[in-house]
Amino acid sequence: MALVPKHILSLKPYQAGKPIEEVQRELGLKRIVKLASNENPLGVSPKAQQGMIDALAETNRYPAPDGYVLRKTLAERYDIKLENVFLGHGSEGIISLIMRTFLLDDEEAITSEGSFIAFDIQAKSRGIKLVKTPLKDYHLDLDAMADRINDKTKIIYLANPNNPTGTIFKVHQFLEFINKVPEHCLVILDEAYFEFARNDPAYPDSMQYRLDNVITLRTFSKAFGLAGVRLGYGFAHESFISNLMKIKLAFEPSSLAIAAGTAAMEDQEFLEKTVQVTSRGRKFFYELFEETGIEYIKSHANFVTIILENEEKVNVFYDKMLRKGVIVRPLKAFGLPHCARISVGTEEENGIFAKALKEIL
Ligand SMILES: Cc1ncc(COP(=O)(O)O)c(C=O)c1O
Repeated sequence: MALVPKHILSLKPYQAGKPIEEVQRELGLKRIVKLASNENPLGVSPKAQQGMIDALAETNRYPAPDGYVLRKTLAERYDIKLENVFLGHGSEGIISLIMRTFLLDDEEAITSEGSFIAFDIQAKSRGIKLVKTPLKDYHLDLDAMADRINDKTKIIYLANPNNPTGTIFKVHQFLEFINKVPEHCLVILDEAYFEFARNDPAYPDSMQYRLDNVITLRTFSKAFGLAGVRLGYGFAHESFISNLMKIKLAFEPSSLAIAAGTAAMEDQEFLEKTVQVTSRGRKFFYELFEETGIEYIKSHANFVTIILENEEKVNVFYDKMLRKGVIVRPLKAFGLPHCARISVGTEEENGIFAKALKEIL
């Protein structure tokens, strides 16, 4: 189609984990366990649910365009100024906005192979050159990324923990890296899985390293169980935030999202339970994979990635698990065709996964 630019024609849409209803329809199964999208298996934070119910009656009104209530709550929680906090339509929405606000056509972005592909799609949608460095033992190779910086590099994307490997880079690695980044480069530090990693002393909580050219992104989609609401936030230098504010959709995020997020921030009980269930589930998976002789990557997030021999083995594994009513995520689209990712479920769901896995082996 002549109307569509070449760089858009060549893009493939983001493929999400297969929805439960689709598998039910296709295979006629009653019980489906979805361990494919790193969602919260405990459901929605009850306080967030109540917050949304309370806000429903006011949805005839537009939301406050500056998201004041939630930005203030976040600012107080993290002891920073309101001017340093930004809200968006999921952290992915903020990534997209950063591309629109800061990137020029002849500039470049750097990311890693085997990392979050929604970043690639957003960067490529701008028609810019996207440089990708290989993973090193399933970790982001920060040295290789720093080596690829040149005069045209504008954005560097680091997911920590990384999706889909679940690995982290450590404090000293981050500090070494950031010292090599020139001022004209903006570093997106995507901490979507922060809550699952923060107890590890080696994990560089970016709030302790406030740098003018770093934006931290976090989300309510994972630990707070609000993936369907679409709410993410960012912390950065105020001049950075004030320019994002100019370009954002005027009423993004929605009033329901703001109410949900503000109430969720008070739900420490739900958050702690989520982190505990996740950490127990990861351990359960590690033991299961050791028992069944499956190679896996130790994870700091709410999923574990397994390494099989090749793409064909992954496809067979995916297919057989699907027939048993368990949806997992093959990682070809993420550049890891020999790997599959399994999100941590409830104890019961993890048990169903284990039983199905033993049967198909
Ligand atoms: C690394 C990473 N960043 C961002 C996101 C998207 O989060 P949100 O739902 O806030 O857009 C995901 C979701 O899977 C992710 O894995």
